[in-house]
Amino acid sequence: MILAIETSCDETSAAVIGGKGELLSNIVSSQIDLHSKYGGVVPEVACRKHLEVLNPVIQEALDAASCAYEDITAVACANRPGLIGAVLMGVGAAKTIAAVLGVPLISVDHLESHIYANFIEHKDIKFPAVVLIVSGGHTHLIYMKDHLKYEVLGKTRDDAAGEAFDKVGKVLDLGYPGGPKIDKLAKEGNDAAIRFPKAKLASPYEFSFSGLKTSVVNFLHKGGLKDHPIEDICASFQRAVVDVLVENTFKAAEDKKVKQILLSGGVVANSSLREKMSKRAEELGFKINFPSIKYCTDNAAMTGVCGYYKYKKKIFAKLDLDAYSTTGL
Ligand code: KG4
Ligand code: ZN
Repeated sequence: MILAIETSCDETSAAVIGGKGELLSNIVSSQIDLHSKYGGVVPEVACRKHLEVLNPVIQEALDAASCAYEDITAVACANRPGLIGAVLMGVGAAKTIAAVLGVPLISVDHLESHIYANFIEHKDIKFPAVVLIVSGGHTHLIYMKDHLKYEVLGKTRDDAAGEAFDKVGKVLDLGYPGGPKIDKLAKEGNDAAIRFPKAKLASPYEFSFSGLKTSVVNFLHKGGLKDHPIEDICASFQRAVVDVLVENTFKAAEDKKVKQILLSGGVVANSSLREKMSKRAEELGFKINFPSIKYCTDNAAMTGVCGYYKYKKKIFAKLDLDAYSTTGL
């Protein structure tokens, strides 16, 4: 049984994974309410909250899996990327538990754990695959030849897709995080009402969302909300983001001649992205997988499932494992 711990941003989470890679429990304590009044995550507040709730969250995960510390055979934790103080909380706890129990420690990159969220529920995924990771801090296109083998094809040059959603949400006074609220409003809007720019980059695998974000902000400062309902602005902005994500992902899948596409990260909770990606995959004959919405945003179940694949290959970390703010992918 693997105990997994995830504290890289504003969710404190612990999960237990069984001997066949099956999920036995997953407890997520979100800090969203704590940070929303500041319009974004306050790192110092996040790490103090992790410290306060981590032990009860771990205990709850063990209880929900009907197991005790003594039953744990390995401890997995996300040691990068994230808010450094926040990541340190989970790494410190995981190292301590592994040392006391005398079991292996497994380090997981938060980005690879997002990919492995797909393996919590889907057992029929075959490599090679092209993977899109779209979260609050990252937008990456990755080629995976096999389990745990990552080749980064391209990433965002500036803002991540989720960051663009959150910043536009902030200017629209929708609170933090903006992504889910924009998604909801966009359902009632006309996505062809306003033509926001889509960045054209030299590489088809790269992304840029800061120009789009600035364009929406300028549009609003010039009184855009007087002439257009907020639903149309949300739908038009969302379309500009989603269309680029769809285009680049399928271009990469075609170029790399893969049949399997995997989507991962918080922005994959977006209903338009899920719908357009599924439709295009069906039209072009690709197999596409994405996690249930509850496993798109941060959780320790994905950390644990990734840890399970590392455990099988005996890829262990040392007890002097450090925390980093950047990804190792
Ligand atoms: O993966 P995640 O939980 O945290 C990071 O690793 O960053 O992703 C959080 C991001 C936020 O930017 C949030 O606004 C976005 O995912 N998000 C969404 C939706 N749900 C969450 N963006 C668009 N539509 C959604 N429904
Ligand atoms: Zn994440």
